[in-house]
Amino acid sequence: MAILTPFGGRSIQNPAPNTGFAQRSFPEIGHMRVGVTGGAGYIGSHTVLALLEAGHEVVIVDDFSTGDRQNLQPSVTLVEGDFKKPEVIQNFLSHGLDAVFHFAALKAAGESMEQPEAYSAANVRGTLFLIENLSRAKVRNVVFSSSAAVYGEPQYLPVDESHPLVPINYYGFTKLCIEQNLAWFSRLGRIRYASLRYFNAAGYNRAGKIKGLERNTANLLPLVMEAAAGMRPELLVFGDDYQTRDGTGIRDYVHVEDLADAHVRALEFISDNNKDITVNLGSETGMSVMEMIKTTERISGRPVPSRIVARRDGDPPELIASSALAHQLLGWKARYSDADTIISSMWNLYRDKK
Ligand SMILES: NC(=O)c1ccc[n+]([C@@H]2O[C@H](COP(=O)([O-])OP(=O)(O)OC[C@H]3O[C@@H](n4cnc5c(N)ncnc54)[C@H](O)[C@@H]3O)[C@@H](O)[C@H]2O)c1
Repeated sequence: MAILTPFGGRSIQNPAPNTGFAQRSFPEIGHMRVGVTGGAGYIGSHTVLALLEAGHEVVIVDDFSTGDRQNLQPSVTLVEGDFKKPEVIQNFLSHGLDAVFHFAALKAAGESMEQPEAYSAANVRGTLFLIENLSRAKVRNVVFSSSAAVYGEPQYLPVDESHPLVPINYYGFTKLCIEQNLAWFSRLGRIRYASLRYFNAAGYNRAGKIKGLERNTANLLPLVMEAAAGMRPELLVFGDDYQTRDGTGIRDYVHVEDLADAHVRALEFISDNNKDITVNLGSETGMSVMEMIKTTERISGRPVPSRIVARRDGDPPELIASSALAHQLLGWKARYSDADTIISSMWNLYRDKK
């Protein structure tokens, strides 16, 4: 049912709550109505599932620029449109939200160097506009999608939260800039926040509850999947002469269901303790490009055609998180972020896509 509200934007309330997720358990939190920007996207949709399972109500604002309608759960309320438009944000906030999770953003580091205007508008101006409105509407709890890109080149491994913040792409700078603004709005008593610095998000819901593929991604694993599924002729591997165990780059992949779990825990933490947190979310293990290709070939039973090409500027040999702080504060640890679980949950979706 679609309703045109007096505030503009389009709200759709689907009646039947059905998350089908009873087997997983999250910490008990008082029921909240949680607004989710970008809730039809890749990480947002997985987090919505986790919120519903934890007993919360969810209101999504999404313009479907990269989101997928298939990712909407029946029980969510949808405000369709660009959250940067005054009438859309007004509609979103009219739902009486206790907290907002902010996922909606542009996310390709390379693209941010070619189109800084788009990244400034979406990630900086858009998010400041959101924060200003949350502050005025007295929505206290904010959970922000930050990124390991705030650190830049790793100066030591594993990278913990005390690592210097020296982004080497504009995307990373947009995330840092918002983290700093969140800190100010908190200091001024307007909000409390969790800033979650994701490493490489990967995998899909293991029970197949998310059907829409991540769009416009420049990440490795979707490209590996596409090569295995025959959706692209080959995978380019950027450098095989790094000082790593097989010469290819090593990254920290964290399963998107682990990320979703951390978001729910972060909300509980900031609301129960009235404290802000900034934490890394990573698996604390590194997998090389070659290891991911081999795991995919084994699990899919298909070849992954690949070609070694020159290194890319700014790609460090190795990037691995320390998530000790998330463990300590949130009781969180990655549970599904081993290569086999990540790859098999992705292959379940990709194998039928060609
Ligand atoms: N995917 C990763 O590996 C990764 C790593 C670090 C940080 N992040 C951050 O996590 C967040 C979510 O990433 P994702 O991978 O789920 O991306 P995604 O592109 O799948 O999701 C973004 C969602 O926001 C919606 N959206 C974008 N602009 C909007 C607007 N103006 N108004 C309303 N809706 C809008 C899109 O339609 C989409 O549903 C982003 O902020 C990204 O920077 C992602």
